[in-house]
Parts: sequence; structure tokens; C-alpha cells
Amino acid sequence: MSSSSRTGPLLGPVDVGPVAHGGHCVARLEPEPGQERGRVLFVRHTLPGERVLVRVTDDSHASFWRADAVEILTASPDRVEPRCPVAGPGLCGGCDFQHVDLAAQRRLKTAVVAEQLQRLAEIDWDGDVVGVDTPATADGLHWRTRMRYHVDADGRAGLRAHRSRDLVLLPEGGCPIADRRTPAVVDRRWPAEAELVSAAAASGSALLVAGRLQQGESELTEQAAGRSWAVEADGFWQVHPAAADTLVGAVLDGLQPRRGERAFDLYGGVGLFAGALADAGCEVWGLESGHRAVLTARRNLADVADRVHLRADRVERGLARLPRRTDLVVLDPPRSGAGKQVLVALLERRPRAVAYVACDPAALARDLGTAARLGYRATSIRGFDLFPMTQHVECVAILEPDRSAAG
Ligand SMILES: C[S@@+](CC[C@H](N)C(=O)[O-])C[C@H]1O[C@@H](n2cnc3c(N)ncnc32)[C@H](O)[C@@H]1O
Repeated sequence: MSSSSRTGPLLGPVDVGPVAHGGHCVARLEPEPGQERGRVLFVRHTLPGERVLVRVTDDSHASFWRADAVEILTASPDRVEPRCPVAGPGLCGGCDFQHVDLAAQRRLKTAVVAEQLQRLAEIDWDGDVVGVDTPATADGLHWRTRMRYHVDADGRAGLRAHRSRDLVLLPEGGCPIADRRTPAVVDRRWPAEAELVSAAAASGSALLVAGRLQQGESELTEQAAGRSWAVEADGFWQVHPAAADTLVGAVLDGLQPRRGERAFDLYGGVGLFAGALADAGCEVWGLESGHRAVLTARRNLADVADRVHLRADRVERGLARLPRRTDLVVLDPPRSGAGKQVLVALLERRPRAVAYVACDPAALARDLGTAARLGYRATSIRGFDLFPMTQHVECVAILEPDRSAAG
């Protein structure tokens, strides 16, 4: 069976155990004759404590199988009716938790962050993943300001199924987590197999078809942290409308920047954290691998250009050309995390504090484990639900020199 197959055997009943990183829960099949323990299953579309029948979707791994819960025999009190008609087994892979009450989604994410931190970094975390709802997104829908759709051979727009290239056509009314301001793509025919980018910002919206602007402006303007930010319609900007302000707030709270301090903004995008640090009076050095993003960031921060030095380079390479000393660091890497090489090069500069903005709690936990071995400990870790209905979660960890280790 391939990982995209939806027609594996129906098994169960199984009793569903805890939630795990990746949007599924852990369960076990009954042991086969001669086996001590049953095979581990990673089951989607279920909740801890449920009793379900499952259909195996991927049996290619020796140590576990993947499965979908296709019949719920005993439902969790946290189960709700999905708000999207194409959420569910074998359907759209965009949302993992449409069947879960919003407050319970946040409890699941809290459990995942705590488990990853404990298992990979030996950190006991007693925080909570909190919502960042705005009036427009209060029910966990209509928050996604950047959508990437795919078009089938007949010209209809859809989203990919989970772990598959199969397209699931959008429901009538479009994707319910898309910000209402993003241009609609249902009920229209598009060039076959094209990719569509539909984006909205404070200034307006844009639609790109196969990389070409079809509607709106190719450069949008966002408002955050007391500034205006130009962003390419298909460039990186935090997707939840409340995300940029929330993350800047958490970073500044944690770092407490002082006028005249040196700061690095690594993986800087169009300059969000560099701008916040410069506005707090710091002299900032930034690295970002995207050339277009760096040119835009320089324009965004033209008024503080005397104290913001931005370079288009990969962090792994560019760090060697940054000053040998810094007081503060913001790290906002992609899902893979910063990694040991970057952390070594940074922490040997003995910064006063590091703010690590992380979209993957596993990568964060691995990097916090590395930082601990390099003499830095997490003095605060906050979790934010910037991606309702999905398994994704954003964390901001503050690292400081571990005085107890120094002695
Ligand atoms: C999560 S985004 C953060 C952007 C920015 N901090 C913000 O909040 O708007 C990560 C950024 O890192 C950039 N990037 C990815 N890998 C990189 C690398 N190895 N070195 C430098 N930048 C990288 C991406 O282009 C992207 O802009």
C-alpha cells in the first residue's frame, strides 16, 4: 500500500491514546498471536479517549502504521461537527482538527508542545497554548491571509489531500479558514495544473495565477508593530492577522531590549523583528536568504537605515560576517529549526538573551536541548495558536545564559 492509498483494511475497534506531534493520536492494535504488544497506529480524525474503527492509510513503516478513524464508536466530549464539508478521512489535508472544539484544540497543542519539550529537551513545561483571536477569526475560521491552491486537469481549484498529491476540490463558498478578504477561487475555471496564490493584507488583496498577477497588487502593505510593511503578495508574512503583533510583543517582552544594545535578526523576512528592535533603540544586523525579501526589508526600514544592516545570505554562512559580539538575538527559522552549527556560532558570542520564534515544537525542542548543552537555558516558553483547525502551533522561547551551569 502506498502512503497515498485510502483503501487499506478496516481494523478495530481500537482505544485511542494521547495526541502526538503531527496531528494524530497514538493507538495500538490488539497484539497478533506471539506478539507481546500490538502494532502502534498514528490515527488521524480522532481524539484521545475515543473508541474507533480505523482504516490503514500507510503500512510502509516497520514500527508503526498510519490510519484514519472512519467510524467513531465512542466519541470524546471534545468532538464537534466539522465546519468544513471537505474535512475528514481521505479529504482535504489542510486542517487536522476540524472535528475538535476550539478550546480543546488548544489543549491538544499544549500537550504536544509539553511532550516534545520533555522528550527532546528534558524541559517540564507548564504553559498553555493560547488563542490570538480577532473578532473576524473568533471561531477559528477565516484567519488565513495567504492561500496556495492547486488546479486540476479540468481547471477547478482545490487543496491537497493529506500526505498526497491528490486534489480535493474546494467546497461551495471556498476554504472556511481563508481570510474573507482573500480573492475567491471557486466557481471559476483556471489554467489546468496551475498554482494560485490568493492573499489579503491591510492594504488590499492579490491573486496570482501560475506566478502572474491576475488581480490586485503584487506588493501588499501590512500594519504591525506600529509600522507599515511592504510584502510581496507571494512572499513570507505571518499568515494569521494577529500573528505579527503577537510575536513582536512576545519577543520584546522576553528580550527587554535596551537603547544602544546590539541585536541580530536571523531569518528576518521583510524585517519585522529588526524594525521592532531598531525602534527600541538597538543597532541591528539581519540575515535572510531571500534576495527580494531583503530589498523589501531595506525599503521598509529606510527610516532607521543608520542602525539596521541587512544582508541577503543564508544564516549558516552569513553569521561569520556579523560582529563577534551581540547582546540580543532573534531566531525565526523555517520548520527545520536553526540547528547545531548556527546555535554554536551564535551562543559563542554570549548574547544576553535570545528569542527563538518556532513554528515546529519538535525542532524547537531539539534546538533547546542543543542550547542547554552550550550553556543556555529557556527562561520562558510561550505557545500561541496562530493556526486554528490545524495541528500547527507557534512558540516563542527566551534563552539566557545558565548561571547555575557556569559555576
Ligand atoms: C518563518 S520565516 C520568518 C520571517 C520573519 N522573521 C517574519 O516573521 O516575518 C523564515 C524566513 O527565513 C528565510 N530562510 C529560510 N532558510 C534560511 C536560511 N538558511 N538562512 C536565512 N534565511 C532563511 C525564509 O526565506 C523566511 O523569510
